[in-house]
Amino acid sequence: MKKQYIIANWKENKTTEEAVSWVSEFSELYVPHEDKEVILCPTFALLPALSNELKKLGLDIKLGSQNFPAFEEGAFTGEESPRLLKEFVDYAIIGHSERRNFFHETEDLLEKKVSLAKEYSIEPILCVQDAETPIHSGATLVAYEPIFAIGTGTPDTPENAQVVSLTIAKEHEQVSVIYGGSISGENVRSFTEKDGIFGVLVGSKSLNPQSFAEIITNA
Ligand code: PGA
Repeated sequence: MKKQYIIANWKENKTTEEAVSWVSEFSELYVPHEDKEVILCPTFALLPALSNELKKLGLDIKLGSQNFPAFEEGAFTGEESPRLLKEFVDYAIIGHSERRNFFHETEDLLEKKVSLAKEYSIEPILCVQDAETPIHSGATLVAYEPIFAIGTGTPDTPENAQVVSLTIAKEHEQVSVIYGGSISGENVRSFTEKDGIFGVLVGSKSLNPQSFAEIITNA
């Protein structure tokens, strides 16, 4: 069986109490699978508590951040450098369309972030909106997330997602492509069963432990 990445993007949601209760409910439902790498991407503020909680429960789940700045540690008020994040995370989402859109992130900036992530041994999950979006050097995990499918309940077709994934992989042999946008327990398999799609990035349906556990089981 191919290795799959099942990634939860919690976006700007959950207090510590809500996150801890999510983990406790999830731990009752989660069936680990050696070919499925499960990664939780919460807000920065939740990372220490979640890291403790996962250790306490012995859950083999990795943590990721949803972003980080293109700066090294130093006099950058309000930022969380990869050197500091590395204490908690193995992965980082980079270039999500919400960051490109609301925070005007450019390809130059994303290129720097990918290389900074690699420097600190954080695996970047580079989000692209189509097959034409640049894949920056060093990126090996790419999430194809068409904007029309994000948070709308209307995913891309698995057939089109496969075409985009294979187009990206053809030009970038080192890259594993995953799909994101309105993934649910009902539709996940139709994507992950396609050659060239190595997992899913899940927004809304990852906020509920039951629906996220169902996605992992069905993937
Ligand atoms: P969604 O979000 O699953 O709610 O569509 C996906 C994402 O933004 O990564």
